[in-house]
Amino acid sequence: MFEKLVAFRNALIKFLYKTVLKPIFFGMDPELVHDRMIKTGKWIGSCALGRWLLRMMFGYGAPILRQDVAGLTFENPVGLAAGFDKNAELTKVLPQIAFGFAELGSVTGEYCPGNAKPRLWRLKKSESLLVYYGLKNDGAGVVAERVAKSVGQAGQRMKIGQKFIYGVSVAKTNNAETCDVEVGVADYAKAYLAALPVADYITVNISCPNAFGGEPFTDRVRLQKLLTELDKYYVVGKPVFVKLSPDLSVTEVDAILAVCAEHKVDGYVCTNLTKVRDNPRILDADVPKNGGISGKVVQGLSDDLIARVYLATEGKKIIVGVGGVSSAEDAYKKIRLGANLLQLITGMIYEGPSVVSEINQGLAELLKRDGYKSVSEAVGRSVEK
Ligand SMILES: Cc1cc2nc3c(=O)[nH]c(=O)nc-3n(C[C@H](O)[C@H](O)[C@H](O)COP(=O)(O)O)c2cc1C
Repeated sequence: MFEKLVAFRNALIKFLYKTVLKPIFFGMDPELVHDRMIKTGKWIGSCALGRWLLRMMFGYGAPILRQDVAGLTFENPVGLAAGFDKNAELTKVLPQIAFGFAELGSVTGEYCPGNAKPRLWRLKKSESLLVYYGLKNDGAGVVAERVAKSVGQAGQRMKIGQKFIYGVSVAKTNNAETCDVEVGVADYAKAYLAALPVADYITVNISCPNAFGGEPFTDRVRLQKLLTELDKYYVVGKPVFVKLSPDLSVTEVDAILAVCAEHKVDGYVCTNLTKVRDNPRILDADVPKNGGISGKVVQGLSDDLIARVYLATEGKKIIVGVGGVSSAEDAYKKIRLGANLLQLITGMIYEGPSVVSEINQGLAELLKRDGYKSVSEAVGRSVEK
């Protein structure tokens, strides 16, 4: 009965979103909508009544979805991907709308205004977004202070039975100076150290497609330097993940995995945005040449990389699957290919915020249908180890 009510509520909210709100939002500038959503969410999340209302409208929980991953307990495997709440303004809202965790950021060593506007487009036919933000963020120090004020430091939260996991994605400041390897490494380290007290886990983003100087730390030697530095600050119980690009060749992926295997890296986030325009899932004409693409365009690439990393690491590392998740089936596929956890942004924009609850509920059903007692039991079941 309860499950039926939740399904009805989700379907109703989704219908209202798609017929009323989405046409209005999609008629406006995408970055303006993003900024207004953050402001509105922040406002609603600031009072107990607002949080309660959100919980009633979007909440969902099921014991089968709870799992321990890398020493952290996740209430469910569906998280918000890095880039939506860059500056940690929705920390009070995200736990109410059925997410199990959120990756804040990416934050960088210094404040970063990002690239010139316009820098966000909808590729409607492709159910994707084209992103050229260029790591716009308030800077790791400011963002960490904001998290500490709103939800406290990670250790304190754990002690009082925290149920929501906050990861922080760190990158290097997007400017010419950080193209120097030493300066770049120092900038990553600055962001990492600032984020550490408030983060339950850290993702090292080496795959931003929109930064000045490209993605220098996908190179073996530079990555070696970066991880050697970050190893010094590793804290047991605070896992470190590395976020990969979907555009890497097999050789490049193997080289990165080999370097990471020598360092304190607990897992991989697969994947970031794709830069490659020669993709059959791009159905829109005239896609601007700058920027990385999310959503359905990146979904297949992300699925392939999840399976590849799962096989290469023999299922011994954590994989966070991200790219094009907009249904329980999409999520389940990624889990069966090797993902322990999932993230999304674009699915929520195209389907509305109730999609998070819908995915969780559908996932619980799919797991039960196939006789699994937990998410962990289904991880990697579609690929041979
Ligand atoms: C508006 C926007 C901003 C993003 N910014 C970041 C970022 O700062 N750091 C990062 O690692 N990924 C960033 N991403 C990539 C997402 O985290 C994710 O990897 C990608 O969008 C694929 O997931 P999706 O298809 O569910 O959106 C951004 C994506 C979007 C749509």
